[in-house]
Amino acid sequence: MTTRTCLSVILAAGEGTRMKSALPKVLHPIAGLSMVGHVARAASIAHDDGDQTQISLVVGRGGPEVLQAVNPFCPSADVYEQTERLGTAHAVLAARQAIARGYDDILVVFGDTPLIEADALSRAREVLAAGADVVVMGFRTDRPTGYGRLIEQGGSLLAIREEKDASEAERKIEFCNGGLMALAGEHALELLEAVGNDNAKGEYYMTDVVEIARARGLSTIAIEVDYDNVLGINTRAELAAAERIWQDRRRREMMLSGVTLLAPESVFFSHDTEIGQDTVVEPNVFFGPGVKIAENVLIRAFSHLEGATVATGAQVGPYARLRPGTELGEKAKVGNFCEVKKAVVHPGAKINHLTYVGDAVVGANANLGAGTITCNYDGYNKHLTEIGKGAFIGSNSSLVAPVRVGDNAYVASGSVITEEVPANAVSFGRARQINKENRAPKLRALYRRTSKSG
Ligand code: UD1
Ligand code: MG
Repeated sequence: MTTRTCLSVILAAGEGTRMKSALPKVLHPIAGLSMVGHVARAASIAHDDGDQTQISLVVGRGGPEVLQAVNPFCPSADVYEQTERLGTAHAVLAARQAIARGYDDILVVFGDTPLIEADALSRAREVLAAGADVVVMGFRTDRPTGYGRLIEQGGSLLAIREEKDASEAERKIEFCNGGLMALAGEHALELLEAVGNDNAKGEYYMTDVVEIARARGLSTIAIEVDYDNVLGINTRAELAAAERIWQDRRRREMMLSGVTLLAPESVFFSHDTEIGQDTVVEPNVFFGPGVKIAENVLIRAFSHLEGATVATGAQVGPYARLRPGTELGEKAKVGNFCEVKKAVVHPGAKINHLTYVGDAVVGANANLGAGTITCNYDGYNKHLTEIGKGAFIGSNSSLVAPVRVGDNAYVASGSVITEEVPANAVSFGRARQINKENRAPKLRALYRRTSKSG
């Protein structure tokens, strides 16, 4: 564990016009978390230096929203506005005040490069700790066209040559600039301030820092990271491609941690999905944000879960929907075409077919028959349904909340329950059945006489 202090500057001032969106680009989500949130999370892990962790954001618009997205990973993050978009070096200098506070390491990362891994940032920091002053994250590709090329000599980096300035020989270099950098804090400001804009685009390029540093006798090094780490997102198609890569990474991690995925390519996780060992997930399952699944759970095909906690031995689906606030106890079951929302389902309870349970408490080992509906909403307010332990709710019953069914009570099928059912009672909330003996033939005769179709 390092004791060096670190500031991550996240550049997020790009207009993002190609996203064609009212939402600032870096707030577009991958696995339910904003791109800038992914970057902030990686940075916060790579910092690992206790209370010194600090992130500064450079934004063009949407400052408060972007700050909020980063808040869970760095409550003390601050935001700087880059009013004119004059290049990456200019953008980093928008956070001059923060850099001037004095840090050992400065990481410059991009808010639209969401697949950066903490490990890559940590490696860059280790190279700084070993004495480098500028560390550039490079990647290898057999299709380098368009990227800055990394010109190396004897293990150190001489320069970053942009495509249009590169010679024939330099263009053959397949080691490219990923854009992200780490700078020694003691030199960061002087290097960035020395960058000029005498180039084709008239922009202040952060890449110039390499040659400036060398001219001052400082040490500059490129490290290699996987291409995904520096993949920049500019369009929604690229966003979807990043989502795919992220999901593949997560599926792999899940399986390596002991979760069985029958068809991994058809299971979608959120950034915060937690699943315990020996849980089995069948094909076509979607995990929205806030899901925690314990060990030995069976999630059957075509289920959709968000904001739900599922305890050991429970079974969900096929075709189940668990909405926010669902807590399934041990060995509880929620079967096909059931929806559960904001409900505590105690251990061993069964909700197996075609049922809606919302704003409810279901007691241990209670059994809800097919088609049970908690009528929780009157158009204005939501009300609670309480079902006691061991209670049995007959099929096609409506429980009109607020209402309580006592422990071990029995509700007859087809009931509409509007009043409390005491513990151990049997409750009929339906019209009594009347049988008219031998009436069917007469009814048919009547219908035949009056029928127009003859
Ligand atoms: C950069 C590198 C290039 C590298 C490529 C990898 C420079 C000069 N070039 O080029 O060598 O191969 O990344 O993708 O760095 N930003 C601001 N304010 C600005 C300018 C940029 O906030 O004034 C932000 C952008 O939102 C983006 C990031 O900085 O997140 C990078 O800028 P971008 O314009 O994408 O740089 P590239 O031309 O891709
Ligand atoms: Mg770019």
